[in-house]
Amino acid sequence: MAIRHFLSTQDLSREELAHLLDVAAAFKKQPAGDALRGKAVALVFLNPSMRTRTSFEIGTWQLGGHAVVLAPGKDAWGIEFEPGVVMDGEAEEHVAEVAQVLSRYVDLIAVRAFPKFVDWNEDRQDKVIRAFARHATVPVINMETIVHPCQELAHALMLRERLGTPDFRGRKYVLTWTYHPKPLNTAVANSSLLIATRLGFDVTLLCPTPDYLLDPMFMDQARGNCAESGGSLTVSHDIEASYAGAHVVYAKSWGALPWFGNWGPEKPVRDAHRHFIVDEAKMALTDGAVFSHCLPLRRNIKATDGVMDAPYCGAIDEAGNRLPVQKAVMAWLAGQARGR
Ligand code: CP
Repeated sequence: MAIRHFLSTQDLSREELAHLLDVAAAFKKQPAGDALRGKAVALVFLNPSMRTRTSFEIGTWQLGGHAVVLAPGKDAWGIEFEPGVVMDGEAEEHVAEVAQVLSRYVDLIAVRAFPKFVDWNEDRQDKVIRAFARHATVPVINMETIVHPCQELAHALMLRERLGTPDFRGRKYVLTWTYHPKPLNTAVANSSLLIATRLGFDVTLLCPTPDYLLDPMFMDQARGNCAESGGSLTVSHDIEASYAGAHVVYAKSWGALPWFGNWGPEKPVRDAHRHFIVDEAKMALTDGAVFSHCLPLRRNIKATDGVMDAPYCGAIDEAGNRLPVQKAVMAWLAGQARGR
């Protein structure tokens, strides 16, 4: 049987996603378990983290397993990911060996590998995690690359809890771009689009200009999701029209893909759209919407104190849900892991 990984929620059926959310909800009622008893998990971080690292480490422990955190290039050897390359640079070993060796020690390998922000045509291939998945003989989990599927599940569980239903058809979901002083990864925006369309929402992607549209492969996947789920996808640059009647507002900042790797000319465009900040006046246009963000968030840049501290803000619940949803993912994958 082919090994299953958790690289993108698009690799799972809607029924499988719903089941993972059910299992996660059960873990919220009974946090301890033995699904990882005697098992080990490698957490490979090529980028910083607070929530992801903490929730994976604690989640592994709560299920009876042990997590090893590795930061290649810092506390572990730097890794080369290109096949067939002459390794005369900084990297001391190749992912071919790293993934196979870790597979002898652990039952799951989780990887965080952000884009390098130089060439989107390169980054959009998601080569790092795909190389791990190709060479590992145990399941691989995406802890954020060009998508953030664990965040998607935590977000979906929070929406189930806040909206009181797993059926989101007919509800309006706004993914709004927000200002940030730096151009950021599109991963969470891509993921928001994927999971919201998968769940059947009527999704509005609100962004400053057409340059801030997401990669066509994610726009196409989102449209395909709508055809399956009964949802819809609309692109808008009109703030008031987008917020009007919304049931969910999800905020994220990202860099515009046409300027990827040449960020200088993008900055004045981004700076001209500081007013995309989520504030109380915009939220007042909604139909009592839930607001959320993946965190970390710069207060009074992306969202005001008033929004972050409002009862309708689900960001802390969403971050808390990282723990049970990742336990559901690890329990599922460890149950089908090959022997070492
Ligand atoms: N949302 C999220 O993944 O947070 P960290 O970057 O702190 O892990």
